[in-house]
Amino acid sequence: MQNFSYQNPTKLIFGKGTIAEVANEIPANAKVLLTYGGGSIKKNGVYDVAKKALGNRLKAEFGGIEPNPRYETLIKTLDIIKKEDIDFLLAVGGGSVLDGTKFIALAAKHTGGDPWDFMVGKSPNPKSALPVASILTLPATGSESNANFVVSRNSTQEKFGGFSPLIYPKFSILDPETTYTLPAKQTANGVVDAFVHTMEQYLTGVGGVIEFAPLQDRWAESILTTLIEQGKRGIDEPQNYEVRATLMWSATMALNGLISRGVPEDWATHGIGHELTAFYGIDHGRTLAVVMPGLWRNQFAKKKAKLAQYGHRVWGLLSQKPGQEGRDEVAYLAIEKTEEFFESLGVPTHLKDYGVDSKEAAEKISQRFTDRGFTSEHGLGENGSIGPKEIKEILESR
Ligand code: NZQ
Ligand code: ZN
Repeated sequence: MQNFSYQNPTKLIFGKGTIAEVANEIPANAKVLLTYGGGSIKKNGVYDVAKKALGNRLKAEFGGIEPNPRYETLIKTLDIIKKEDIDFLLAVGGGSVLDGTKFIALAAKHTGGDPWDFMVGKSPNPKSALPVASILTLPATGSESNANFVVSRNSTQEKFGGFSPLIYPKFSILDPETTYTLPAKQTANGVVDAFVHTMEQYLTGVGGVIEFAPLQDRWAESILTTLIEQGKRGIDEPQNYEVRATLMWSATMALNGLISRGVPEDWATHGIGHELTAFYGIDHGRTLAVVMPGLWRNQFAKKKAKLAQYGHRVWGLLSQKPGQEGRDEVAYLAIEKTEEFFESLGVPTHLKDYGVDSKEAAEKISQRFTDRGFTSEHGLGENGSIGPKEIKEILESR
């Protein structure tokens, strides 16, 4: 196991009727900006409950944060924050609203330069931020309990992730009933996203060693098994509280920093997936369903030991063939099982299903990584072995 430190300061308030708790968590004299997306919270009543809980603390609102939140939209809040002397941000929505609000929290305190600098590494260590809290309505990203934020820029077709310990939410409300109104597509996207987050911290192959962190492995396997068991039920039984609660807690646990402590992390599927969203507008979870199976086949030699473990423990796959041959067979079958799982949720796994030509996407995206200085020796993934050449192969295969 690798050395690690772990601190997650976000207070999680989980369960039915918990939005009212906002009143106990935000100081009575706070001046709050409430942020939200395209209006789902107004249709399902979450907005009214949040507004009531805030009472006089609510000084201003900002709606219209779009999926894959845009810099150009977020930056508009800075005038409101100044004018209303805002000192607390409450994000109500899915990962996009939460991430966008985290960016706003940093941008509001940023001096000397364009806040976009956070995203492109020019200003990697922000010094201060407004406090942020959230009411989550879409289990997927783990943003409610982590310090990540992903922001897109329309003018340059770019999408980047950032991290700052300053923007861990002070608290997050996780009321599973808020997710009853999710369209099947968003429920499915969320299941796939949480599944792939778990994989990025589990399905790693460094030197073929798998007896590395048995506890972390079993945590990850428990999340994967739960998502396989409950994911489709979330779509078929949208108002089943226990199912919705389980999916919500699974997604939080998949990316709150716990399962990655002491183990290598991959994140290449996310790195490539972000480009598919930036260029073609494919939903985040869906890009992952396209990329990950191709990436596993491309990196099979490095990842096959862990793939075999995953196939055996999560899918119950066994082989009649002896030794390595049998393990390789289980590893290949595990990739197929994963594709079938995504498809069973209604999430297509090939670019043509999204009207995107795989050859063109492969060219365009691998060129972008070339321009950014990536190579097969200094590339993405836990081994740094996924450069423009591998990215091209992976995308061409999809
Ligand atoms: O905008 P509204 O009207 O609220 O509708 C949203 C949006 O259209 C809708 N929705 C959300 N909750 C709903 C609902 N509709 C009905 N009922 C509800 N209860 O769902 C649509 C998608 O919302 P969005 O927030 O975009 O989805 P998601 O939570 O999947 O977030 C995606 C964003 O998060 C980033 C992604 O890259 C993407 O930009 N990620 C953030 C991460 C993080 N912070 O750690 C990690 C992830 O890997 C990911 O990159
Ligand atoms: Zn993700």
